[in-house]
Amino acid sequence: MNECVLQAENLSKHWGGLKALNEFNIKFYDKSLHSIVGPNGAGKSTLLNILCGTYPATNGVILYQGQEITSLKSYEFCRKGIGRSFQKTNIFKGATCLENCCIAAQQRVGGSFGLFKSRHANKKVKQIAMDALAKVNLTERAETLANAISYGEQRQLEIAMVLATDPKVLLLDEPMAGMGHEESLTIIELLKSLKKHYCIVLVEHDMDAVFELSDLMTVMVDGQHLITDVVDNIRANPLVQEAYLGNENEVF
Ligand SMILES: Nc1ncnc2c1ncn2[C@@H]1O[C@H](COP(=O)(O)OP(=O)(O)O)[C@@H](O)[C@H]1O
Ligand SMILES: [Mg+2]
Repeated sequence: MNECVLQAENLSKHWGGLKALNEFNIKFYDKSLHSIVGPNGAGKSTLLNILCGTYPATNGVILYQGQEITSLKSYEFCRKGIGRSFQKTNIFKGATCLENCCIAAQQRVGGSFGLFKSRHANKKVKQIAMDALAKVNLTERAETLANAISYGEQRQLEIAMVLATDPKVLLLDEPMAGMGHEESLTIIELLKSLKKHYCIVLVEHDMDAVFELSDLMTVMVDGQHLITDVVDNIRANPLVQEAYLGNENEVF
């Protein structure tokens, strides 16, 4: 097993009386893809939001490479190397693909380049942004406005924007939502190549994609961790069939 990069211990998030995340324990490993599945409202987006510092946890601990980071600010999570995409789009539609990636890269390097002359910083940021676009095969779209590329390409751009923050961990919230079959295949191939280099946490409803890509899968229900295992064991698990799938013939 590769290095455990990110870990949650007894992590909880309460919205008033609602336990959106309830004493959740999980470990994510480097150079692998770990999917989180569960019904709507299970707490998947909440988990990602807490793991990247968007919201503070109500209780529990987050460890990054063994170091506690629970109460850091969200930009500090980003600078540590935890990057995320959002379920709802994060793109500036009136900016070019390159500019969108530059804005993302700035988040990561902004602080550390504050000492340099701005032209040097701009060049560095642009290089990081171009590298990120190349990783998602959007180099040729660099100077195109984000609202002029296809929906599928916009989702690729969102992944590029995460990559531009130079992460070790990528938290991806439904990157294939609303896509057609062909577009999904492009993202599947992209994630297959990216997972060789990053720790990817994938929340996704497309079960074909999840089964094809996952090294590990976690099923969560009502804010609780139900099971974490390899794909074949998840498919066969009667608890999963009962609690999540309802009927084994219907969902998987
Ligand atoms: N900002 C918020 N304020 C109040 N309740 C929220 C907030 N975000 C999520 N919730 C609630 O937390 C629960 C889990 O939501 P969410 O994490 O979005 O689930 P999922 O992504 O699995 O569909 C839901 O009942 C949702 O209504
Ligand atoms: Mg969600």
